[in-house]
Amino acid sequence: MIIAIDGPSGAGKSTIAKLVSKNLNFEYIDTGAMYRALAYKAFKNNIPIIDEKIDKMLKTTKIDYLNNSIYLDDEVVDDYIRSENISKIASMISSLGNVRLKMVDLQRSISNNKNVILDGRDIGTNVFPNADYKFFITASVEERAKRRYNELVDKGICVSYDTVLQDIKLRDYNDSSRQIAPLKIADDAIIIDNTNMSIQDIQNKIISIVSEGLNAL
Ligand code: DC
Repeated sequence: MIIAIDGPSGAGKSTIAKLVSKNLNFEYIDTGAMYRALAYKAFKNNIPIIDEKIDKMLKTTKIDYLNNSIYLDDEVVDDYIRSENISKIASMISSLGNVRLKMVDLQRSISNNKNVILDGRDIGTNVFPNADYKFFITASVEERAKRRYNELVDKGICVSYDTVLQDIKLRDYNDSSRQIAPLKIADDAIIIDNTNMSIQDIQNKIISIVSEGLNAL
């Protein structure tokens, strides 16, 4: 069984997907981490984000997602991929055609024959258009920026709310306007706007919808 969770940056998708996966005993796959790992490699090696250079990098790059950790060339890179800088590069690199082909292939092959919950931007529209359940989780851009700003301040990172808001708006624009598999709501997705909802409420909502379906089988 496949559960697809899509939505814009900072909507809380991964937190929710992780909680639901534990509750339902499904495997969790963070597809954004795959694009982030590629972005990290390009950044570390000073590789410009253009097709020709990234195609070459892809030929010698191995990405794996195992036990909730992202591997880049057999090394766990979870701790290096969450910075604002890598977020920006990930948004750029994820618009390249061969990058998407390779990552979508990987996402399909590691989900094969499993109960999986994946979060991303194009899971319900492109990676698994026949997913058993599709959720589109969103929140207002101001609320998403506020959450991200608080997260950064808690980590001791000095940043202004306006910068975070502009960054999120830019990423929303890039993710939604790219030509290949842009962020959009699948026709049959259940939309959850969590601007005024707690993580617990969303988790409960998803679990009750999925459990109802499982009981009806
Ligand atoms: O979910 P995230 O913020 O970790 O994703 C990082 C970037 O990767 C984001 O800019 C959108 C892109 N992405 C994508 O294009 N398709 C996915 N399935 C997942 C993420």
